[in-house]
Amino acid sequence: MSIFPTGANGSSLDNSKVTVPELLQRKTLAAESQNKKIACVTAYDYPTARLVDEAGVDVVLVGDSLAMVMLGYESTLPLTLEESLHHAKAVRRGVQRALLVADMPYGSYHGDLNESVRNAMRFVKEAGAEAVKIEGGERRLELISRLTEAEIPVMGHVGLTPQSVNALGGYRVQGKTPNAAEQLLRDARSVEAAGAFSIVLEAMPRELAAEITKAVQIPTIGIGAGPDCDGQILVLHDMLGLTFQGAPKFARRYANVGETIFNAVREYSADVRSGSFPTDAESYHAGASANGRKTIPIAR
Ligand code: KIV
Repeated sequence: MSIFPTGANGSSLDNSKVTVPELLQRKTLAAESQNKKIACVTAYDYPTARLVDEAGVDVVLVGDSLAMVMLGYESTLPLTLEESLHHAKAVRRGVQRALLVADMPYGSYHGDLNESVRNAMRFVKEAGAEAVKIEGGERRLELISRLTEAEIPVMGHVGLTPQSVNALGGYRVQGKTPNAAEQLLRDARSVEAAGAFSIVLEAMPRELAAEITKAVQIPTIGIGAGPDCDGQILVLHDMLGLTFQGAPKFARRYANVGETIFNAVREYSADVRSGSFPTDAESYHAGASANGRKTIPIAR
């Protein structure tokens, strides 16, 4: 049962399950009409997965950003396969309509190809993911083909790829010079040619993202890549105001949940200390059962 009465899905789309073939069709529809664009967001646990799914997003990504926003690591690099799987399984239990994509963490697809395929399969078999996301362009050609052959839909990711933070020398906008832009265009084309069904474009000039979007037949999902992509993705904790560091300028904040939690817990602590919580109405009372024995009711 939903925690919302009815019609919580605010989208103008129907409630049918989002699938890979349907997202591919949306490429054409997105080009023709603004309200067919693909809305994607991250989630890392059961309650937020349920909420974003019931709110009507098309794709839920268990992003490796979970390393930073949920687990407090300084970058995405330390995240392990087991940690990712643990969160992906919780998200699976909360998502019904959206397509569930799991990000493969750093190190789980950078070595032996067979092992990388086996790791991706764990997301499908154990966590119920319907696709995996991997970072990188031309370098991932062979892996994307192998995953596609193994019936695992792949979402590519080019531009600023946070798992390359050490190689890139920081989190910077990519593709700003003509050569760098050419390389990103080649990367996107390679990812498409290898069989990916969509591609994340992160932190690049909007003009370049628009060019890539025109150049490929698969949907582009932008994050810090301007409005001309076929869809958009944000890190949920950035849009909810639930992070401790400043969010990038593209991460529009839709709520201040951090402040709401802080104030609620402050108020609760004050109520406990002053003795105003709990009241008698919030307490159980000893009552007589049918057979005359005293029982403590435990219903909520
Ligand atoms: O890990 C993540 O959240 C991501 C998205 C922001 C694209 O890769």
